[in-house]
Amino acid sequence: MAKITAGVGSSHVPLLGVAVDQGKWQDDYFGPIFKGYEWTREWEKETKPDVVILVYNDHASAFDANIIPTFAIGCGEHYKSADEGWGPRPVPDVEGHADLAWHIAQSLILEDFDMTIINEMDVDHGLTVPLSMMFGQPEKWPVKVVPLAVNVVTYPVPSGNRCWALGEAIARAVESFPEDLNVQIWGTGGMSHQLQGPRAGLLNREWDNKFLDMLESDNDDVRHIPHIEYLRETGSEGIEMVMWLIMRGALGKKVKRLNRHYHIPCSNTAIGHIVLEPAD
Ligand SMILES: [Fe+2]
Repeated sequence: MAKITAGVGSSHVPLLGVAVDQGKWQDDYFGPIFKGYEWTREWEKETKPDVVILVYNDHASAFDANIIPTFAIGCGEHYKSADEGWGPRPVPDVEGHADLAWHIAQSLILEDFDMTIINEMDVDHGLTVPLSMMFGQPEKWPVKVVPLAVNVVTYPVPSGNRCWALGEAIARAVESFPEDLNVQIWGTGGMSHQLQGPRAGLLNREWDNKFLDMLESDNDDVRHIPHIEYLRETGSEGIEMVMWLIMRGALGKKVKRLNRHYHIPCSNTAIGHIVLEPAD
């Protein structure tokens, strides 16, 4: 049977993609950021996941103000890197796992999560930057990916509680897939950042680390953080962190932390990273 063996949380700052693509990831500015991912890159090589369910948000690349799905699942065979205004990133196409994705879509919809099914779309930095952080610059990505896009761009975005429950339902869906697959789930986005307005550049080291502590905890208090707290404490774009709760919800009650890293600043955001294993 398929099984979720680990969860990864990571920021998906677009500048990190630029650092990889332009070979700057070891310089004075980016070196300390990428060092925090070193352990994880080695661990990914050893654990060899077959599939990653990659929770991310689209930044007006595949969707725009015309269509705003709250939760969308990619059921296609492959996805190209999106052109975000300066040409597509020079990364391999992302290979999907259509059978698993359709199985998850069916299971979620029959459990009353009204997923939008996407057969064709391009994927932007929200999805490709985490792949670069974990796998570097391979000729071909070493995993298949089930993209799971969440609206965190246009209000109203889903609650943390709903995201956690979706993660729990995803775990049930994966466990009922008959093929033996080593599946990871990644939650991306965040951490504290605000890109516009008088508070542009807002970072909150203390709150971000409290959030990471809560993810490691055996209790589920983190699912009840209200939107207004994310907005107040982490800036207008910090709400992306609700996507980490889909990852955390999929791991069960207890988790073991394998790696954790936090760094300020990266571009004008705080960057955080955590690797968790189910420990029930
Ligand atoms: Fe983002």
